[in-house]
Amino acid sequence: MPSSILSQLPSLAYGGDYNPEQWPEATWREDAELMRQAGVNLVSLGVFAWAQLEPRPGEYDFGWLDRVIELLHAQNVKINLATATASPPPWLARLHPESLPVTAAGVTLWPGSRQQYCPHSTAYRERAAALVERLAERYREHPALVMWHINNEYACHVAECFCETSAAAFRAWLQRRYGSVEALNEAWGTAFWSQRYAEWADINPPRSAPTFINPTQQLDWRRFSSDSLLECFEIERTILKRVTPNVPVTTNFMGFFKPLDYWAWAAREDIVANDCYPEPRDPQSIIGAAMGYDLMRSLRGGQPWLLMEQVTSQVQWRPRNPLKRPGQMRLLTYQAVARGADGVMFFQWRGALAGAEKFHGAMLPHGGTDTRVWREMAELGGELAQLAALRDTRVPADVAILFDWHSWWALELECRPSSDITMLRQLEAYYNVLYRRNIAVDFVPPGGDLSGYRAVLVPNMYMADEALAAALERFVTGGGTLVMSPLSGIADARDHIYPGSYPAPFRTLLGLKIEEFDPYPLDHSNHLRTSDGARFATRLWSDIIDLEGAQAIADYEADFYAGRPAITRHTLGAGQSYYVGTCLEPDGMTWLLDRALGEAGVLSPLAAPEGVEIGRRTDGVQNFIFVLNHNDHAVEIALPTPARDLLGGAAQVERLALGAFGAAILVDAESDSGVSG
Ligand code: GLA
Ligand code: GLA
Repeated sequence: MPSSILSQLPSLAYGGDYNPEQWPEATWREDAELMRQAGVNLVSLGVFAWAQLEPRPGEYDFGWLDRVIELLHAQNVKINLATATASPPPWLARLHPESLPVTAAGVTLWPGSRQQYCPHSTAYRERAAALVERLAERYREHPALVMWHINNEYACHVAECFCETSAAAFRAWLQRRYGSVEALNEAWGTAFWSQRYAEWADINPPRSAPTFINPTQQLDWRRFSSDSLLECFEIERTILKRVTPNVPVTTNFMGFFKPLDYWAWAAREDIVANDCYPEPRDPQSIIGAAMGYDLMRSLRGGQPWLLMEQVTSQVQWRPRNPLKRPGQMRLLTYQAVARGADGVMFFQWRGALAGAEKFHGAMLPHGGTDTRVWREMAELGGELAQLAALRDTRVPADVAILFDWHSWWALELECRPSSDITMLRQLEAYYNVLYRRNIAVDFVPPGGDLSGYRAVLVPNMYMADEALAAALERFVTGGGTLVMSPLSGIADARDHIYPGSYPAPFRTLLGLKIEEFDPYPLDHSNHLRTSDGARFATRLWSDIIDLEGAQAIADYEADFYAGRPAITRHTLGAGQSYYVGTCLEPDGMTWLLDRALGEAGVLSPLAAPEGVEIGRRTDGVQNFIFVLNHNDHAVEIALPTPARDLLGGAAQVERLALGAFGAAILVDAESDSGVSG
């Protein structure tokens, strides 16, 4: 099956950010030659080169870029050409000081770093558009151009701007959303604290204020800020689609990145790309990377995505930056591929000698080609070149996690019952169990299609409406299994609480009501006892639950609600919904999910030792089973049926031996059609 997006590449994409503008021309030829040696087939070119492409306002210099592109093309390296708009040149700030972003406290962010632009600045938008237009016109016919890299990591440093231009844009956005000041007053609940607005002109961004700022104002500000940057993306995309309609566009995401609603963004891209830098010695960070990869695959409905940036060895931006161990770069590369990536790239090609990233790892490190990193990296390039058969294969999943940015934003506003109930903490509680059980999971937005899943997990859906409740009821009634956690179904899209008992929209779904919740101090815990005799610690939170049709399967042990339900199960039509009214430690969460997923008929794949991650991709006929040993010691795994390791040669094996940080891709004998490897 051909890869729909990157079909011009010979195999999985392999390469990195290439910043030739930081090097003398003599180095470029060597770069191109070394790229060929390393199996590089794609580079993200000129991401931060605006100041070299337009050294003075309106004075463009593409000559150097022409020459770089020809050198790369001669080595058959394809180009993911950056639009270079992520960091304006310093002259923009001199000519248009109003283009600089301003913080909530009124502080201006100056040039000398990067990303110093206000997304609403007309000067920024016009200059960026002019540059993109020229780039597109100049390279539209170039055979090496296979993809556009729009901007870079939108919002990674500056997610919002509070200047006067931004305030005016916010008012215009609010006018479109609400139509009248009266409707806004109603939605924002401005009867509170004398906040009632008489005129649009009275409304401001949530700038630094004496105390808690109106929550709906803050929520709308988040929506507006994500929309504003998406508008900047759209300006560029529209130009590129007009001039080069057949060249796919992307921008690089950052996993579970709170400021941007990636569901809305991904719909505007041709392929999803992600940047990921797990702390290589922190197992939780590596699980977090897997979770982000599953999100990336889900953003466009299972379509293969690109790991646009990772690092070969170490980053420079943590307080301390441990090395990836020998083999670990390869292992973490296959982790991304196992979760649906059709290419893996690095930041960056050649290690810089100057600038804030000079200690950041690279494909070609300071030490050159006679280094461990170079050898491992070039070997990996050679290996990936043999794996074209993986392209466009899919990751099948029986389990979905419901996930929504708006609800995330609202959940974590200030003045909540407990600031310990955060979206990522709730997500990780579920995801860690699925990861350890090697159960594949997709993410789905509210309103997304649930029909293909056996189980739907809802770690948190603070903000919910009747339509979502109805969709979940249909899913369960039709035979699905659902699990939901606290502080879900509390508020509507305006962050107004539903009157009556909690969780108003989900009471029928869950067969219960909640009268009160009891957040714990951090050092406090309670316990619950399950109906099958187990005992688990509870932390952070207790819902005080009344049953309305559901059955308790675990009760609190202590406190004034001892003996009241902590976990419930409700039969609805042909399915069942579970509710857990507290936060469980991993043992309790494992008990609950084993039970619920067992009932849903979700199977764990191949049994693997601790620390071994299993993934699966399939083209519908052939199955590729990824076996990834995150341990710093060797493991052996007995296979249920003999299989061939694509990374290990032609032999069928019954026992798979993997060294420290080793990886294998198994093709089982039944489905093995003899793809290369
Ligand atoms: C991000 C950016 C890159 C680089 C890396 C460093 O991913 O997109 O330009 O700064 O971080 O880790
Ligand atoms: C103070 C204020 C009240 C209210 C309460 C909340 O007492 O005077 O308006 O905000 O705090 O605890």
